[in-house]
Amino acid sequence: MFIGLDIGTSGVKAVLVNEAGAVVATAARELALSHPQPLWSEQDPDSWVEAAIGAVDDLAAAHPGDVASVRGIGLSGQMHGATLLGADGHPLRPAILWNDGRSHAECVELERRCPSLHAIAGNLAMPGFTAPKLLWVAGHEPDVFKRVAKVLLPKAYVRYRLTGEMVEDMSDAAGTLWLDVGHRRWSALLLHATGLDLHHMPRLVEGSEASATLAGEFAQRWGMAKNVVVAGGAGDNAASAIGLGAIAPGDAFLSLGTSGVIFRVTDKFAPAPAFAVHAFCHALPGLWHQMGVMLSAAASLAWLSGVMATPTASLLAPLGDSVAGPGPVKFLPYLDGERTPHNDAAAAGAFVGLRGATGRDAIVQAVLEGVAFAARDNLAALGSASSAISELDLVGGGSRSALWAQICADVLGIPVHRVEEGEVGAALGAARLGRLAATAENPAQVCTRPRRLATFAPNPSRTAAYDEAYHQWRKLYPALKEFSL
Ligand code: XUL
Repeated sequence: MFIGLDIGTSGVKAVLVNEAGAVVATAARELALSHPQPLWSEQDPDSWVEAAIGAVDDLAAAHPGDVASVRGIGLSGQMHGATLLGADGHPLRPAILWNDGRSHAECVELERRCPSLHAIAGNLAMPGFTAPKLLWVAGHEPDVFKRVAKVLLPKAYVRYRLTGEMVEDMSDAAGTLWLDVGHRRWSALLLHATGLDLHHMPRLVEGSEASATLAGEFAQRWGMAKNVVVAGGAGDNAASAIGLGAIAPGDAFLSLGTSGVIFRVTDKFAPAPAFAVHAFCHALPGLWHQMGVMLSAAASLAWLSGVMATPTASLLAPLGDSVAGPGPVKFLPYLDGERTPHNDAAAAGAFVGLRGATGRDAIVQAVLEGVAFAARDNLAALGSASSAISELDLVGGGSRSALWAQICADVLGIPVHRVEEGEVGAALGAARLGRLAATAENPAQVCTRPRRLATFAPNPSRTAAYDEAYHQWRKLYPALKEFSL
């Protein structure tokens, strides 16, 4: 048996996977997020640890025999979050997350200090990444900065608490702006530009390599053997790729999680900063990937559900499984700003086209379409970065909705596939990395493609209308820019 733990933003998911590769059980714990100031997004690092331990407790309570036979654990995590530890290994402040937009000025400063940043890190300096957050702390909380002994990413902090070891994998490390992404090693030059050095960084391993052994305290708590291996693991998007079997160059998928991502595997380091495309390491040695990243995908629907005090399922149900074509209301999903293609943390969300007769269903449809239009921006960015993508598997919480899948197919103009275990794709990928680290099996045998449950083909009677609607929607961001924060 193997366990995958995905440290997400809205919650932690745990999956128990058997020797045949099937998901036997899942458990989930919610996480709270705080926005103490406009543009800020923070979380308590210890809440990740409590939720991760609680989720495995739930698995162990329901399946004690299976959990006792676990051989390997893999970790997946929300990327980029700056978790600052003092010399005693305790967090010095709340973690500053991937969707935090406070460090725009520091990005400009970082690019000024390090002209070779794009070539080494493969990415634009964007406020979501880790390095500008540290520069912000140096400028605004100098007493905290002086006490920073190690900087970990979210899942590395959970690993540290579960094993006592400070280790990071290549895919997540690539999102810090401190990694030499082409050579898969920390860059002393990039660290220096942030006032840090190699001592502040954890040890690096590949995602499928062993990183540490589960601490005795937890092995005992869950009735496991003493030698349970914890794999390097992966950033959540690379972990989803492993869960989907996306390990061959050109394989691509769309993730509708809290964030939205279009991900493509590449066989070499392929930076394309001009399109605000991310170029990171994959979770297996010798592979990389490109991504377009939207900051609010399922987060937009969750926001609407909160504002309307109505569960998401009840918002979606009246719309059925498809809509006749683009609705009259347009929505910009920039609730936390946007990365690809705008790199604008201050961009704001908007509804346009409201009338007295506009009802709830039209607003819900606008949100689904707005996210799909933003996904099309990402598809276009990746197309410009290299070649066009011709089909996409779907993962993340948003993949539950057949309606959203159909809207994405109609807006993107390419087939979209729903797959088995798509909702827990990142946790499944983490479990697979746990298996690879424990067994040293061939990745191609472990990272197989899940069964496709349904294919949503673009409907020719709607695609032309969506094409026109997308081009209208594209005019909104520049027109509304003056309303940015
Ligand atoms: C990727 C990114 C998000 C987070 C969400 O660059 O910031 O997808 O990983 O968990």
